[in-house]
Amino acid sequence: MATSCFGYPICSGVGMGSMMSSSYGIEGRNLSFSYRRGGKDVPILKDCSLRIPAGQLWMLVGPNGCGKSTLLKILAGLLNPTSGDVSIRRPRSFVFQNPDHQVVMPTVEADVAFGLGKFNLTPHEVRSKVESALDAVGMLEYLQRPVQTLSGGQKQRVAIAGALAEACRVLLLDELTTFLDENDQKGVIKAVKNSLGGLGEVTALWVTHRLEELRYADGAIYMEDGRVVMHGDVSSIAHFLNEKQIGYADC
Ligand SMILES: Nc1ncnc2c1ncn2[C@@H]1O[C@H](COP(=O)(O)OP(=O)(O)O)[C@@H](O)[C@H]1O
Ligand SMILES: [Mg+2]
Repeated sequence: MATSCFGYPICSGVGMGSMMSSSYGIEGRNLSFSYRRGGKDVPILKDCSLRIPAGQLWMLVGPNGCGKSTLLKILAGLLNPTSGDVSIRRPRSFVFQNPDHQVVMPTVEADVAFGLGKFNLTPHEVRSKVESALDAVGMLEYLQRPVQTLSGGQKQRVAIAGALAEACRVLLLDELTTFLDENDQKGVIKAVKNSLGGLGEVTALWVTHRLEELRYADGAIYMEDGRVVMHGDVSSIAHFLNEKQIGYADC
């Protein structure tokens, strides 16, 4: 069996119980989740464990319906697991596939500043945080632009900037590039990579079905049927997927 980049077997749930540590931005231990349907519990996630070092970008891949979004929502606190534990740096932000669902204000500047209202900041402090966040995602020059003039990828970057402005420590990103062209796709990936540095480490978990994006990841997780099947080294997972002959359309 191949080993992950941290030297433990890449199959999930092995030897992870005693390894909870603050050097990880995201840790999930033995996470299970079921829906109640027709009087029965339908298992969706089955004993999923993962851990992602702080400051890294990891990608989560697997066939449609295997539970990627459900796992991401549990890590975001949007769903409660049926059992298992989450340990995650905060604040954390969940960015959805459709940016129109979260880019809500008329201009880029107003949208990124929107979440800062609760912090009792001076206008100068707000401006400074907005500009730093937009700079991190390569959108500073769009400060005054109406959001409806932006491409899908630019809107995603504005949504990410909004999270960064609020000093988020974890970005949970669900299939952001599905509907983007190659240029926009690269722009969003670059923005996320660039967000990891700077003041305070940001950790990112990126769900994708576009396997070519794996090359930008520091680590990867492969799921099937509600389980974490592989966890760790990107090239091992890419090799495994090639061996399985999983095409982009199937994953
Ligand atoms: N609100 C829901 N109610 C019932 N089943 C759901 C709900 N959301 C997702 N599921 C089921 O959970 C499984 C995993 O879904 P999801 O996490 O969205 O998978 P993925 O993101 O990998 O495509 C699927 O079988 C899906 O049909
Ligand atoms: Mg999904």
